[in-house]
Amino acid sequence: MRRLLIATKNAHKTAEIRAMLGADWEVSDLTSHPEVPAPEETGTTFAENARIKAEAASRVFSGFVLSDDSGLEVDALGGDPGVQSALYAGTHGDNAGNRAKLMRELRTCGAPQPWRARFRCAMAVAENGRTVAEFDGRVEGQVIAEERGAGGFGYDALFVPDGYEGTFGELSAEVKNKLSHRARAMEQAGRFLKK
Ligand code: IMP
Repeated sequence: MRRLLIATKNAHKTAEIRAMLGADWEVSDLTSHPEVPAPEETGTTFAENARIKAEAASRVFSGFVLSDDSGLEVDALGGDPGVQSALYAGTHGDNAGNRAKLMRELRTCGAPQPWRARFRCAMAVAENGRTVAEFDGRVEGQVIAEERGAGGFGYDALFVPDGYEGTFGELSAEVKNKLSHRARAMEQAGRFLKK
């Protein structure tokens, strides 16, 4: 089996990527590699942060490292929360706080609901400290005013992808993992990794 390190401590991202890659890969993440540093995400774009994370981890891990930098862009907020999605409310990964802040901002922004938005995911594959491939995935949809569904993570309960009635929190993991921003980036990353 081939080894792949996902440069994240986010168990949801790892689970989704593991399900997308299938059984040929032994997938681990930074929770089982305390020797691998998690760098400051100082980039101003998803792609830049994806490169920073993949390259930092691949300086200490031998083999391919895959990173995922992702987030939600809402048109009525000029693209926010964007690269700040994980720490929108101030504390990294405070998902409930982030959703509450998003609702406050949207209810006072003056634009009518539902609000046009997209999830974006930049992925980088690195080896020996160098990025060797980059991928981009996105899924268009709308943000609604009330949370629906308990599945997924982050902003899932507020996002309805185009062509569906349910939020990512209501749709099954199988459906989300076929059409999400992460799935679309991973389709390309998977083709590269399987070469
Ligand atoms: P990152 O770890 O810096 O890439 O930040 C990712 C953040 O974007 C997460 O903490 C979530 O708030 C949001 N996000 C990314 N992908 C998803 C998703 O698939 N569903 C819901 N929220 C997501």
